[in-house]
Amino acid sequence: MLKKIFILVGTRPNFIKITQFEKQFKRYAGKIEYKLIHTGQHFDKNMSEVFFEQLEIKEPDYYLNISSGSPNSQIGNIILELEKVFLKDRPDLLIVVGDVNSTMAGAIAANKLAIKLAHLESGLRSMDRTMPEEHNRVVTDVLADYYFITEDSGIKNLSHAGVENERLFFVGNTMIDTLVAFDQNIRDSDALESHSLKKGEYVLMTMHRPSNVDHQVGCKKIIELIKFISRYKKIVFPIHPRALKNFEKYGLSNELKAINDLILLEPLDYLSFQQLVLYSSLVVTDSGGIQEETTFRQVPCLTLRPNTERPITISMGSNKLLEFDLELIKKEIELIQKGQNKKGEIPPLWDGRATERIVDIIAKSIL
Ligand code: UD1
Repeated sequence: MLKKIFILVGTRPNFIKITQFEKQFKRYAGKIEYKLIHTGQHFDKNMSEVFFEQLEIKEPDYYLNISSGSPNSQIGNIILELEKVFLKDRPDLLIVVGDVNSTMAGAIAANKLAIKLAHLESGLRSMDRTMPEEHNRVVTDVLADYYFITEDSGIKNLSHAGVENERLFFVGNTMIDTLVAFDQNIRDSDALESHSLKKGEYVLMTMHRPSNVDHQVGCKKIIELIKFISRYKKIVFPIHPRALKNFEKYGLSNELKAINDLILLEPLDYLSFQQLVLYSSLVVTDSGGIQEETTFRQVPCLTLRPNTERPITISMGSNKLLEFDLELIKKEIELIQKGQNKKGEIPPLWDGRATERIVDIIAKSIL
């Protein structure tokens, strides 16, 4: 009998982790039917639609249209809307991705209807319960049946939590699959040219975590940091809607926009952003996924957070965790200018074939 597998996505970082599934599920055409559900957590054209277009992701079979709201209303609405979908079109397996609110909501909705659950990128832990994503990771991993793991810390964390070995699958990283699949398109993008940038002459920055941008002190510190970095290099900052809203709310957006040598951009499409990563001298971020993309590209990355859920990017990759301390950041920039920064290595199984492995594991198990 035909088996139904649904993937649930909701945010920008989810979209870029599922681009190769359609192709891989096609190998099981006639045996597996694959459908895509988009919660609508990210809804702006440049946070969502543009990724579907560029990355050739199929049109969602269901769009839940939940958009903004408090985390509780987001999660509650997703659960209610998913239940409606599942009651009329019940999958044999739901795949949820990463650590966002949509992920946890999907896990709960599936669990309450006794639908099997697979978690992509499971086992990552920052051990920091002040991060909303950490709750999402922990809850999703308690409810999952299949655990698809990107790095060895995931195996350790899940084993420690008592998950049986047979349910742990170390498969690599589907976000890297997308980088590999679209590598030529990334190189062909006109991002540098359109902003009159040259390879290696700029720093790329992203900042959007609540702990950095949801208060005035944090926004002021970011301005101070940009001013500081711009003494050495041009700085490119594609700003997330949540960060921009907060700069406006705290009356700091004019000061931000007036900084010399700052190229302030709207959120970028995937190919442009990845070209900027590839050719930057340094990436400064508070994102989760960008730590992995810079590790794969062997581009130096400073993550301005007290912890990371992706420790392989530090132990093997080009990532460093740093406090928001201008002196420390200056030292790092000097190292990079002298070419003495660590290049790192590419972690095991980050080879562009994780999705293929996952689909084979699922097919073997459910067919
Ligand atoms: C979410 C994820 C975070 C991820 C980030 C990547 C959770 C808990 N957090 O954070 O892990 O790193 O996505 O982008 O799920 N907004 C828009 N347009 C959009 C999307 C959001 O204006 O397309 C606004 C929302 O209305 C809200 C704010 O941005 O005011 C935050 O959006 P939300 O989806 O709640 O979380 P993110 O900060 O994007």
